[in-house]
Amino acid sequence: MAPSFVGELLRLTALVLPILQPCSAASLYSTYKFNPLEHLGGVAPYFEPQDPPASPSPPQGCSVSRAVYLSRHAAIYANDYDYEAYIDPFVSKLENSTAIDWSKIPALSFLARWTAPLTDAEQELLTRVGRLEAAQLGVTLSFRYPHLRVPSRVWTSSAERTVKSAESFARSLELNEDGTKVVSIYESKEAGANSLTPYKSCPAYSSSFGSDQSAVYLEKFTKPIMERLNAMAPGFNFTANDVYGMMELCGYESVIRGSSPFCDLDLFSPDDWLGWEYTADIMYHYNVGYGNRISGVVGLPWLNASANLLLEESSGEQDIYVSFTHRELPPMVFVAMGLFNNSEFGGGEAAINDTMPLDRINHRRAWKSSHVLPFLSNAAIERLNCSGSYGYDEGDYYRILVNSAPQPLPNCADGPGTTCSRAGFEQYLQERIDMFQGYSERCGVDYDNSTDSLTIYTDSKVGNGTAVGKRYEAFA
Ligand SMILES: *[C@@H]1O[C@H](CO)[C@@H](O)[C@H](O)[C@H]1NC(C)=O
Ligand SMILES: *[C@@H]1O[C@H](CO)[C@@H](O)[C@H](O)[C@H]1NC(C)=O
Ligand SMILES: *[C@@H]1O[C@H](CO)[C@@H](O)[C@H](O)[C@H]1NC(C)=O
Ligand SMILES: *[C@@H]1O[C@H](CO)[C@@H](O)[C@H](O)[C@H]1NC(C)=O
Ligand SMILES: *[C@@H]1O[C@H](CO)[C@@H](O)[C@H](O)[C@H]1NC(C)=O
Ligand SMILES: *[C@@H]1O[C@H](CO)[C@@H](O)[C@H](O)[C@H]1NC(C)=O
Ligand SMILES: *[C@@H]1O[C@H](CO)[C@@H](O)[C@H](O)[C@H]1NC(C)=O
Ligand SMILES: *[C@@H]1O[C@H](CO)[C@@H](O)[C@H](O)[C@H]1NC(C)=O
Repeated sequence: MAPSFVGELLRLTALVLPILQPCSAASLYSTYKFNPLEHLGGVAPYFEPQDPPASPSPPQGCSVSRAVYLSRHAAIYANDYDYEAYIDPFVSKLENSTAIDWSKIPALSFLARWTAPLTDAEQELLTRVGRLEAAQLGVTLSFRYPHLRVPSRVWTSSAERTVKSAESFARSLELNEDGTKVVSIYESKEAGANSLTPYKSCPAYSSSFGSDQSAVYLEKFTKPIMERLNAMAPGFNFTANDVYGMMELCGYESVIRGSSPFCDLDLFSPDDWLGWEYTADIMYHYNVGYGNRISGVVGLPWLNASANLLLEESSGEQDIYVSFTHRELPPMVFVAMGLFNNSEFGGGEAAINDTMPLDRINHRRAWKSSHVLPFLSNAAIERLNCSGSYGYDEGDYYRILVNSAPQPLPNCADGPGTTCSRAGFEQYLQERIDMFQGYSERCGVDYDNSTDSLTIYTDSKVGNGTAVGKRYEAFA
């Protein structure tokens, strides 16, 4: 049976609504469970891996006084590259394969009646599940921070899918009509570091980084799958890209229709899904992760601007700052922060590429794209006011949440739980600046009005944004 995505949403809802969970009797043997939707990298519907399982609640004696969030947009109907490279070729091949009687092939019988869940025109649009995910984040934050002021502005890069995510989020967060306005930041190729898409204005970044390396593992993991499918359905000529696209459809179809026959574990086994996930992880390692020397440089301006909002003593304009962007930026910020570093506890910087071998899976890696960049993947930096945390001084502390799970920072661990002190955080920030400053120079910008810092949160020229209103317009 394909795991039900609706069931997954209900499970997520249960995280938000305090309902009583039944106690299960201890079982003698563990039962193996596997959900492919949690191994789909950039195509994974939002989920919270809780890895490590530290509590998202503030440590004892602490309360959050300010928070800054960065979120990827929520679920969409396939991005253009995935659609053109994998999904559309598979779908048109399928439409041509009239000589094959799919209904006679057990694991693939659904293909006799299956139709593609999206059209050309729907590429890149937010799905209804996407609106739900973004709205759920708004409700989650208002439950998480009941004592903080509702933000008057949220920021988003200018693409439709990020703007719509910001709007759904704002609607669910605001208590009054037009309480939260959406500020759109143009995705300029000449914005320097001053946008929510700084990789687009960095010539040293290329969206094709990682494709050569991931192609090596793609070939390895798809070979036995191709042979199995070709033995079942001779004449279709399943290719490595067909297999990759069918597995991607598990994610995309789930966020469009609520479930997908491609997720069925009788069609693709857990090992097949782990191979898919590792292929994506290799790609993102070299594209937006530790295997690309520019990642931290592009991620630093957001980290620096956000840390400064939190370090500022005065109460400031807002308590909560939230921004929406695309899948590239959160992982680059994680590199700037030093999170999910496969080498953190050994191997050192030089060996980082060795932690992602191309001939077998490193199951113990910290860098898992399904955890790092699912739809709506979000990172928070919180400032906590602690008094009465036994064993720690009263004062300000800082911590990071990724998809609600606290993540320990490297060299910044002198506070309760996963937090670190104000002085520790300032020193940590300086270390990260020393590693990654110099955006314009290191990106090799070829325009002369570049800048190394992100000022959209404090620059009055950015404006107050556009009101969203609590009501949805007619379905558009
Ligand atoms: C499908 O068939 C048409 C007509 O024979 C052909 O032009 C097209 O290339 C085929 N598409 C694929 C993906 O095989
Ligand atoms: C540089 O100029 C371009 C074109 O006018 C503009 O889009 C971009 O935002 C500017 N960059 C900065 C950092 O102001
Ligand atoms: C599959 O490949 C074989 C051998 O290359 C070729 O003869 C056949 O026409 C192909 N079938 C389809 C449906 O493309
Ligand atoms: C990853 O960890 C290693 C070992 O601690 C360290 O040398 C390296 O600088 C880290 N990389 C980044 C980008 O923080
Ligand atoms: C990792 O591989 C990338 C791509 O080949 C290369 O640019 C980078 O320098 C390598 N990193 C290290 C630390 O060797
Ligand atoms: C921190 O908490 C203490 C105790 O609740 C309170 O007296 C103090 O005003 C708070 N400080 C800030 C900056 O919120
Ligand atoms: C960090 O942010 C501060 C405050 O906005 C700014 O003055 C500084 O230039 C920034 N530094 C870097 C390296 O971006
Ligand atoms: C933005 O909002 C602030 C505070 O509400 C107000 O003082 C300012 O005039 C507004 N700016 C614009 C350009 O509307």
